[in-house]
This record gives sequence, C-alpha cells and structure tokens, in this order.
Amino acid sequence: MRKLLIAANWKMYKNPAESTAFLTHFAPLVKQNDRAEVVLCPPMTSLPALVDAARGKAVSIGAQTMHWLNEGAYTGETSPTMLTAIGATHVLIGHSERRQHFNETDTTVNLKLKSALAHGLVPIVCVGEHLHERESNKTADVLNLQVSVALEGIDPAALGPLVIAYEPVWAIGTGKTATPEIAEEAHKIIRAQLAKVAGTAVAAATRILYGGSVKPDNAASLCCLEDIDGALVGGASLDPGSFSQIVANATAR
Ligand code: PGA
Repeated sequence: MRKLLIAANWKMYKNPAESTAFLTHFAPLVKQNDRAEVVLCPPMTSLPALVDAARGKAVSIGAQTMHWLNEGAYTGETSPTMLTAIGATHVLIGHSERRQHFNETDTTVNLKLKSALAHGLVPIVCVGEHLHERESNKTADVLNLQVSVALEGIDPAALGPLVIAYEPVWAIGTGKTATPEIAEEAHKIIRAQLAKVAGTAVAAATRILYGGSVKPDNAASLCCLEDIDGALVGGASLDPGSFSQIVANATAR
C-alpha cells in the first residue's frame, strides 16, 4: 500500500514569520489526519524556522530545489548537506518552473536525484508535458524520456524513497486542472515506464503525485484514482484553510 503524500510548493511566497504563522494555523487543522504524509516546501530562508516549528507535528519540511554537490563555487546555490544539516527531509527536483526559468534539464534532474538519494532526502521529481506536446500526441514520449533520464545509472534498490510528481505544464497556475481521466492515464504511463527502467517492484512502490491547479473541490476526484498517490499543490497551499481542506478531501476516500 502506498501512503498518500500531499505536498505544498510555496514557490517564492512567505517569509519566515509568515511561514511559521501558517503552520500555527495549519497544524491543528490536520491533526486528525493519519492517512496522508503532509510536506511543506517553503522558500530556502523559511526552512530553518519551519523545521523548528514543525517538530512534534505530523508535518515534514522540504526544499524546492538544491544543487547536487556538497560544496563549491556555485553562487546562490544550496547543497544537500546544508539541507540535511538543518533538518529538511524532502526536496523538489526539476519543477517545471526550474526547467523553464533556470535551465534545469533531465540531466541535472538525474544528478540531483542521485545526490538526494545518497543524502537520505526524499526526492519529489517533477515531470510533465507542455500543451503543444500534448496537442501533438507526444505526452507519452515526453514522460517516458523524463522518467528514464532521471533514473539513469541509479540502482533500483536505492529508489525506495522516490516520489514522482506528474505536473502537466499547461495546468500549473492556470486554473486548468487535468481531468481525473487525463491524470490517471499519464500516471499509468509513468508507472509503466518505471517498471521498464527500474522493475515492477519499484513501479508498484513509487508514489506518483498529481500537480497543477489542485484545489479543495477537485482534490477528492483526483486523489481517489488507482495510480494517483497524492498531490503537489502550489497556489491553493498558501492558505492554511484551503490546504487543510485539500488534505481532508484527498484522504476522504
Ligand atoms: P498550482 O502549482 O497548484 O498553483 O497550479 C502547482 C505546482 O507548481 O507545483
């Protein structure tokens, strides 16, 4: 059985005080939840305060990106050992905004995935097609390539912690959610590709989250499908009431 995972991607929103204030409101609202793992991914500057504030609460804290090396002359970057040193446990890898604005590629995703696994961070690897790729029937090709390059050279035995987030680029921040049928079909493609490159055990155990305009009112229909194991939520995760409602609705099945 794959445990649901509901993760918040706050992008470049919330300073440390705003982040801890969110948790103060949010934690009591999800106190009864034991069906989903809940992860908050704030901006880097909020990580230490949020890790401290989340101690003893059933909420984990992750970063939105990281470099793959432990140290070096890489101005502006944060390393995996810096994340583990402050107690972050998860990391988003290859979000489409990182690919689009910061030149991340499937190759850097692969380097980051190897590094995250080596450092005991739970990697949430983001994949997804652009609208023009969907419209020209390339969705399966795009997803298959993203998954296979991401996993290249990694021993399947090391992939236990792997989480994948299917985030169709056309659904991110647009209010256009994939229908449950579109999402389930894409998740099946990803799971089949996982089986091909890493074996059926990895494919069966890997959680695949859906992301892209997840809101309280669509969380239940998206999260109750066979191959959808939770959600990665951007805009609707910024408010404690709406994000807790997503957790409640997604776990109500
Ligand atoms: P959204 O963002 O929920 O605002 O569409 C999702 C994401 O970027 O992870």
